[in-house]
Amino acid sequence: MSKKNTILVAVAWPYANGLQHIGHIAGAYLPPDIFARFSRMDGAEVLMVSGSDTHGTPVTLKAEEQNSTPEKVIEHFHTKFIECYKKIGFTFDLFTHTHTENHEKVVHEVFLDLLAKEYIYKDKSKQLFDKKAQKFLPDRYIEGECPLCGFKEARGDQCDNCGKTYDAIELKNPVSKMTGSRDLEVRETEHYYIALGKLNDQLLDWASKDKAHWRKHVLNFTLGELSKKELRGRAITRDLEWGVTIPQPNSEGKRIYVWFEAVMGYLSAVKEWATITGNPGKWTHYWQNPEAKSYYFIGKDNITFHSVLWPAILMAKGGLNLPYDVPANEYLNMFGRKISKSRGTAIAVLDVLERYQPDAWRYALAALAPETADVDFTWDDFLEKVNNELVANWGNLCNRTLGFAFKRYEEKIPNPGKLEPVDEQVLADVKAGFEEIGALYRAVRLRAALEETRKLSQRVNQYLNDMAPWTVIKTDPARAETTVYTALQCITWLSTMFAPVLPFSSQVIFETLGFDGQLFGRQYSETVKDAKGSHEVLRYDHSEAVGVWKALELKPGQTMRTPSAPFIKLDPLILDQEVKPEL
Ligand code: MF3
Ligand code: ZN
Repeated sequence: MSKKNTILVAVAWPYANGLQHIGHIAGAYLPPDIFARFSRMDGAEVLMVSGSDTHGTPVTLKAEEQNSTPEKVIEHFHTKFIECYKKIGFTFDLFTHTHTENHEKVVHEVFLDLLAKEYIYKDKSKQLFDKKAQKFLPDRYIEGECPLCGFKEARGDQCDNCGKTYDAIELKNPVSKMTGSRDLEVRETEHYYIALGKLNDQLLDWASKDKAHWRKHVLNFTLGELSKKELRGRAITRDLEWGVTIPQPNSEGKRIYVWFEAVMGYLSAVKEWATITGNPGKWTHYWQNPEAKSYYFIGKDNITFHSVLWPAILMAKGGLNLPYDVPANEYLNMFGRKISKSRGTAIAVLDVLERYQPDAWRYALAALAPETADVDFTWDDFLEKVNNELVANWGNLCNRTLGFAFKRYEEKIPNPGKLEPVDEQVLADVKAGFEEIGALYRAVRLRAALEETRKLSQRVNQYLNDMAPWTVIKTDPARAETTVYTALQCITWLSTMFAPVLPFSSQVIFETLGFDGQLFGRQYSETVKDAKGSHEVLRYDHSEAVGVWKALELKPGQTMRTPSAPFIKLDPLILDQEVKPEL
């Protein structure tokens, strides 16, 4: 690559109101990490940011349910997210949260700028009022039937079934989650609004141009929202006492709507990262540099917020990059039902990481990724991906080749000797993967990239079976040595190609082959202090990472390290032991 790419990897901010389950990870968290790891190896300047989404009714409802406070709830889950990401190896340059002084400052700046430009205005609005509680009911405090698709458990601000947003008063048969009451009244209250209508044409223009690289379902949804030209003002404040304050007089008891401020986390986190790293002006490199490309990794229920609302805010503000791509995933379902932590039991990632290798999950979830359609997850799938693909194919190739070489060639990489055409062919096939698989990664076709890598690994297994060096060594040791060298060279390249998905085991294989250094950087957490107190952040130091997306030459005579099996084969008994989630 002649010029360095500059890439902002923007990851959906998880609500700090519950543990993350495998649906979240497969949908919006593992894909950006794979993409970021690849892009860094590919020589790009990458910044991956996100944080806990700490405001809004998802958090206040949880605090009430636990007889706790929002502060305690967010601190608890924020810490758990960081623990989980360390274990599964998510390389955030910064994972922070939204209840910080920095975030509030950025949100206030944007709010005031939009207010001055009249993209934000004040208006009376009709809201549902719970007479029993004597309170207005924001967002998740109401449930009812979706006015658009009829889904029975739609929330006050968005339907989980069709992904559309609407006004809570449009819900049919609304019920208060505060009191359980159906005795609700529509009353008038005053709120701030964003004038989305003013931006409709401009948004449609943007979404209609140069979007060939967007996933079809994302582009269709976005154009569907914009092409009707029916965008209208949306309330961006709520009757709540928890959230970012409104920087205007007479705003007691009201806060900024969580979705309006959480998306600004992508900007505030980059500013926080720049400040922490001692280079406060550096945020512009990712936000104002016309060469920088931003990729937003989200689940499909978040599409409208990232392809309509956030671009609208950015356009109104001006001078900031619009999303380059929004590679949203569809859902990973459990037995046909969307996994949602707010509605019933699901498989918590922190829990299963206690029992399985992180690379086993990374592999299975990357292989099953719901990139273009919903996917049903079953434990049988997990077992089959890990045992029949990861262990039987790639693991087996490494085990038998590394073990044999270590034993037979005095713990050193053997000599290639004279290559035959079959050797040259397998080397050429695997080497070509850098180009083909690299192109898939660059296009965010992560599942296809992994699939191609798996096929190459299978190709080398087949080569090894055909050559059978363990037999040939008895009659033609030179020939056996050539084939073992060839297989080891292929393994070197394959471990690089697998590395974005399988960082832990690729490192082990890399070291076994006798290479020094770390393919990737180091994750760590630290505490940042500000006027609101202090918060823990997850960070990533890749200054010493040596992993590069290229065909590294394996030197004959290089001293190997003692091989160990990179993957654990699963006992089929797990199918009986693992709890089936409630339906
Ligand atoms: N907290 C939201 C969710 O879990 C996602 C927010 S993404 C953001 O669905 F960018 F808006 F923060
Ligand atoms: Zn709906």
